[in-house]
Amino acid sequence: MTNNTSLIINESHHLDGEIHIPGDKSITHRALILGVLSCGQLRIINTLLSEDCKKTINALSLLGADISMDDSVITINGKGLDSLVQPSDIIDAGNSGTLARLLSGILAVQNFDSSITGDESLIKRPMKRIIEPLMTAGANITSENNRLPISFITSSVQPINHISSIPSAQVKSCLILASLFIDGESHISELVTTRDHTERMLQYLDYPLSIDNNKIIISGKQNIVAKDITIPSDISSAAFFIVAALIKKDSNIILKSIGINPLRTGIIDVLIKMGADIKITNNTSVCNEPVADIIVKSSILKPIDLSGDIIPSLIDELPILFIACACCDGTSTIRDIEELRHKESDRIKAMEEGLKRLGIKVESTSNSISISGGLFNGGIINSFSDHRIAMSFIIAGLVSVKPITVLDTENINTSFPNFIEILKDQNNEIYNL
Ligand code: S3P
Repeated sequence: MTNNTSLIINESHHLDGEIHIPGDKSITHRALILGVLSCGQLRIINTLLSEDCKKTINALSLLGADISMDDSVITINGKGLDSLVQPSDIIDAGNSGTLARLLSGILAVQNFDSSITGDESLIKRPMKRIIEPLMTAGANITSENNRLPISFITSSVQPINHISSIPSAQVKSCLILASLFIDGESHISELVTTRDHTERMLQYLDYPLSIDNNKIIISGKQNIVAKDITIPSDISSAAFFIVAALIKKDSNIILKSIGINPLRTGIIDVLIKMGADIKITNNTSVCNEPVADIIVKSSILKPIDLSGDIIPSLIDELPILFIACACCDGTSTIRDIEELRHKESDRIKAMEEGLKRLGIKVESTSNSISISGGLFNGGIINSFSDHRIAMSFIIAGLVSVKPITVLDTENINTSFPNFIEILKDQNNEIYNL
């Protein structure tokens, strides 16, 4: 389903029953990439078919991959690490930072030249964080001001030795993927641990990768074994409905088979601290990723103070957490969130501007925000073409005294194409402008 550009949301119905959340975006990108680099046929089940993930399929197809699709099941004939061919065109990563950064790791170590670019938002996002460590290992990369478009010129790359000071799973995964193609042992560490889906999936696919005290050790040029991959449902998408059920009176929902990787569940821990009635049941493991059902009931939330190492574990959930904070009686302060300024939009600015429009008191610094809870008075919100900003303010609309209009919501399709459909199925009043 495509989302019409601007949407009006009226204060509406409580949420009830089971809500099916689509597959995880981070894990889908990795399954597609590692599937293509594996040796043999595999299926990916519960694939997220959002615009970002379609861009990954297109990019890999341009590199010679054999990928076919039937509903949300993808079949890949993996042809191994040596199988990629020079793309006939510049690769377009669209809106996807994950695709741009992960694929850059691969393109930097091929025996052909290539280039990658992105949309209006992606070309403004920082790429120095991947260009620098790749060039230190010997890659030949050209760009203007360390932004997309960037070009990769064939060169001889040595094993990578890198300690990442930026808490970024995209940087870590870029370097892990590059290491697969490099003769010898690469060592990659990070000061704060970020989501480890790449490491978990490589281990699931029997690739020799070990982790010693936060240091990832990878031997290059080994086989990735083709195995079917089931994608857990996306906790980042689930977060919108978790917060919606918490703030909308009389709600009671269950979200099934959600990925609860401990490096992604900061949002659950924080909401529970705020007083949320959230229960995790049916814990299991799927393809080396922890998965569970999540039951959420409406709750009165208390404000929170947040900072430090927990931030990367809820980095994508901060916009919807800010909506939860705005529904509390009291002031919440969230610090150490400078990275939010480098996402699909400057998310501190976008959330501050939007919340103020609704009548909420907000203050910010370069790396923090303070939100004093109150009633949403309705208004017109600029989403800055950012999917998570648009979805956050649509959820705010469910409890707003007057209607909220969210402009420019099309990019919801990059991560959660049936978001509006689910809300309408729950009898909520959403109209196209
Ligand atoms: C992602 C990592 C995070 C996150 C992004 C997806 C990934 O970015 O914000 O949505 O799939 O590795 P950073 O690692 O740059 O913080």
